[in-house]
Parts: sequence; structure tokens; C-alpha cells
Amino acid sequence: MDSIIVTGNGPLSGQIPIAGAKNACLTLMPATLLSEEPLTLTNAPRLSDIKTMTSLLQSLGAEVTSLQDGQVIAMSSHNIDNDTAHYDIVRKMRASNLVLGPMLARLGRAIVSLPGGCAIGARPMDLHVAALEAMGAEIELKDGYLHAKAPGGLKGAVHELRFASVGATENTVMAATLAKGTTVLRNAAREPEIVDLVRCLRKMGAQIEGEGTSEIVIQGVDRLHGATHPVVTDRIELGTYMIAPAIAGGEVECLGGRMELVTAFAEKLDEAGISVEETEKGLKVARRNDRVRAVNVKTEVFPGFPTDLQAQMMALMCTAEGESVLDETIFENRFMHAPELIRMGADIEVHGGQARVRGVARLKGAPVMATDLRASVSLILAGLAAEGETKVARVYHLDRGYENLVRKLRGVGAHIERVADE
Ligand code: UD1
Repeated sequence: MDSIIVTGNGPLSGQIPIAGAKNACLTLMPATLLSEEPLTLTNAPRLSDIKTMTSLLQSLGAEVTSLQDGQVIAMSSHNIDNDTAHYDIVRKMRASNLVLGPMLARLGRAIVSLPGGCAIGARPMDLHVAALEAMGAEIELKDGYLHAKAPGGLKGAVHELRFASVGATENTVMAATLAKGTTVLRNAAREPEIVDLVRCLRKMGAQIEGEGTSEIVIQGVDRLHGATHPVVTDRIELGTYMIAPAIAGGEVECLGGRMELVTAFAEKLDEAGISVEETEKGLKVARRNDRVRAVNVKTEVFPGFPTDLQAQMMALMCTAEGESVLDETIFENRFMHAPELIRMGADIEVHGGQARVRGVARLKGAPVMATDLRASVSLILAGLAAEGETKVARVYHLDRGYENLVRKLRGVGAHIERVADE
């Protein structure tokens, strides 16, 4: 297993290209199951999660080919011969559950393992199940697997999600594209990745309105056809690299970044004393003062502050002037980076879903490790601002969601390298 060593080295300067969104790609890929014709994605990120989804789709009988060094994914699902998403794959990645809706719509049946415990909380699937049942699916839990069937096909329904879950919205929208009649999904999630999914489905012939609002209306059609679609920019990778100059000082232009993807986050950065400016090529981020100011943050569904940027924001707040309070409202157990940041000299107290961070003048490098993707990257960011060397172990978490992390940060002057552990 590899580690990453980062040494605090002062201000950063230069440009970082932002890749296509992991979370968008992970929902666009299962959309291939809805059609017999090819679906091709461009601007795909090169990540281990994408490889996991590739293996899952292949295990179901889809053909998935990676082209142009992984930036293009060509898929064809003309021959789906297996209806089971096995635990071995699903346990690696919760997003595997996004095959449930498409398989049910295409085959009238699907057997999908429940993802099981996950480092950042229980993450059940009750909302997915309730929405699909409203469309006529019969779903039961047997041996850790959801056994779903819709013998007479799925039927359009009016359904309100109890919580605006991203995954449940995606599964329901995909399933509804081939259902008989009209589906009205209320309290739908509004994340940009859902807007991207709907745009792709529309290219495939789906009739959908209201993406980006809390009510999505889907008129079922008999069949979907092939399409080519570019994956939207990764707003979480974007936000992560926006923190780099905020925490280390300097100025970095994030290429491909767009303000509407990170509005709530950029507002918090501005409040903390970080300027974010739109340029022709992306977003230019610079720290205005020597130290950032403490700000309070509450994670919320989009368009609120994203939970996937909470750990990175906490790293920034560790070096801020004053005290900040971070409220995590989306996941119940998402402060596992706090004890590691404390090992680097941070002053943090966690009580339930709330963390109180008193900024310190300087963090100190330390060997650390994290248990999830965003927590791991928050330690890299903290390392950029720390005195001495920070060694982040369990790099496979980072490989799930950040392509070329070392190369991208080196490109703006960071002292960072990947080493193989003995
Ligand atoms: C997606 C993102 C993830 C992000 C999250 C919230 C992907 C691949 N992953 O995950 O990076 O952190 O959105 O923005 O896109 N819940 C239930 N029952 C359900 C489904 C969810 O109670 O049936 C709960 C979860 O436990 C969690 C909350 O709802 O507390 C949010 O989950 P959800 O929006 O579904 O997140 P994911 O789609 O899993």
C-alpha cells in the first residue's frame, strides 16, 4: 500500500485542471443498462471507483471499454444476462446500488446487495425502496440482498421522498424513464450530478422535466436509444483544490471550475477572507490576508454547503483566526478526520454532529491516516499548511476520488510525493 508525503512549503501558484465528476460518472454509467444501444461518456475521471463500476456493469453482461487513457468510457448493454449485483462489488462502493432502478426498468427484476456499514454512517436504502415500490415494484430483503421485481413492468406514480436523497432520486428517475405513464418525484435532490444525469437521459430519448428543482416529472417511454455525453465538472474536486491556496497561501486557478457548482462553498470562503474570481478558464482563488477568519458551516443538501467538502473546510478552519462551528446534518458519523487533525496540532472538540474548531497559528506534520475519501484529502490539505512532514497512509481512499492528486498539487508548487510502503 502506498502513502503520500506532503511537506508544508508556503504559497502555491499556478493552475489545476479539474476532472469530470466522480459522482456524476457513477450514475451516468448505470444509465447504459436502460438501453440496448451504446452509451459513451467523455470527460470521465480516471478513478478506482470508476473501475469498480466498470466491473459491476461487466458482471451484469454490459460491455464497457475504456478509451483515450480512461477519459472516454464506451458502453453497450445489448445483452444483459445477469440480474445480480453481488456483495463483493457493492460493499466496495455504495454507488453500486445505482444499478437497481435501471435493471428493474429494463429486466423487470434485480437482485442487489445492500451496501452494509460504511465509514461515514449507516446509509440505508429505504428511500430507494419506497420510491420503487410506489412504482409497483415488489421488493424484499433476503440474505442481505434486495430482491426486486416488477412482473407487469413499472408504472408511473406520484411519490414524495422523505429526504432529498441523491441516490434515491437518481435510481427513481432512471427507473421512471421506462415506466408506463408519468412519474412525479417530489422533494427530489437538486445536485448538479442529477441535472447531468437528466441531460444524458434526455439525449437517450427520455422525457423529463424539472431537473435542478425539487419536483421532477418523468413521462415513461417504450425504449431509450444510444447517446454520447460529457461528464459535468467535479464540484467536489474543484472545492478541494480551492482550499489548497486558501490554506497554504498563494493563488491557484482551477481550470474548468464554474461558480454555480460551488456557490454556497465560495460564499463561505469569501467570508473567511478568500477571494474567488471567475476567469475565462475557471475559478481563480487567492488568500487575501495572512490568516483566514473562522466561519461557521452547516452541511445541507444542494444548493447548501456540501457534506463532501466539510472535512476539507475543517482543515482550513484549523488554521483560522478564531473559533468555528461545523454542523454535519447529512451523515451521522462524518468527523473521523478530526482525531487525525488533532494529531497535527489542531484544537477540535466533537459533540455528536457538531465540531468546534479553535484555530491555531500553525499545524505540525505527523503520520496520519483516514477512513474515507474526503477525510483523507483533508489531511493532505492540512499537510500543505503544516510545519514539517505529513505522511498520509491508506492512499487507496484518495485513488477512489482524486485522479493525479500528486501531479496536480506538484504543478502548483506543493512538496508532495507518493511512496510505496515497505
Ligand atoms: C451521494 C454522493 C456522496 C454524497 C451524498 C450527499 C454519489 C455516488 N455519492 O451519496 O458523495 O456525500 O450524496 O451529498 O453520488 N439515506 C437514507 N435512506 C436512503 C438513502 C439515503 O436514510 O434510502 C440517508 C443516508 O444515510 C444519508 C443521507 O440520506 O444520511 C444522504 O444520503 P444520499 O443523499 O442518498 O447520499 P448518496 O446518494 O449515498
